[in-house]
Amino acid sequence: MDAASVQKVYSRWARVYDWVFGLLFGNARRLAFQRMELKSGNYAIEVGVGTGLSLTSLPEGCHLVGVDFSRPMLERALMRWRADSVDRTAVLVEGDGACLPFPDKTFDAAFAAFVVSATPDAVALLEDMQRVCRPGARMIVVNHFSPNEPRLARLRSSFSNVTSRLLGFHAEFPLEPLFRKAGIEVDRIERATFCGGWRVVTFIRRES
Ligand SMILES: C[S@@+](CC[C@H](N)C(=O)[O-])C[C@H]1O[C@@H](n2cnc3c(N)ncnc32)[C@H](O)[C@@H]1O
Repeated sequence: MDAASVQKVYSRWARVYDWVFGLLFGNARRLAFQRMELKSGNYAIEVGVGTGLSLTSLPEGCHLVGVDFSRPMLERALMRWRADSVDRTAVLVEGDGACLPFPDKTFDAAFAAFVVSATPDAVALLEDMQRVCRPGARMIVVNHFSPNEPRLARLRSSFSNVTSRLLGFHAEFPLEPLFRKAGIEVDRIERATFCGGWRVVTFIRRES
């Protein structure tokens, strides 16, 4: 998947995205916000913010920068945020999560939901998420991860070709190699939703 094909898929998805993914994964987004342990005055970054379904989980007094490279998805996020008037701020930025336009160690926490299997270079995205967070920041990834069963891997791989072209995500996506390649030591893995492989993964930005 390259950036242009992912952007094309999400410009199609934007209109109906909330109907499909809003209710279905609300619990996972809320759990991810709990795991970030945001305190008043904290700044968090959400990479691949999409239509901003998580924005309403942002605690009062906290600030969020949401980044996405799909303009139609961001336009939806902007409408959602305007409709919300509580004491929090969100800034939405059009940009690439693998090349974030922020200095090192800017944020207190980071979050990426349903993005790592829907992006051209998940390792680069995780590396840059770490770069922009201060040491000690809590970082959360929510995603579907395929089980480590080599016998079924080929079948899932062919299925993955179809899902990446039509739906913009890889169906075959094991957890362990991704985090290893990004140099991340995972602290906690929790089941996220009613169906099988959805996980909320927590890790801490280490001192570099
Ligand atoms: C499945 S949606 C998830 C949206 C949102 N996080 C949620 O919980 O509903 C994936 C989003 O990631 C965005 N995305 C994928 N790769 C990206 C990248 N490298 N930089 C910025 N956004 C990216 C897509 O444009 C899309 O909006």
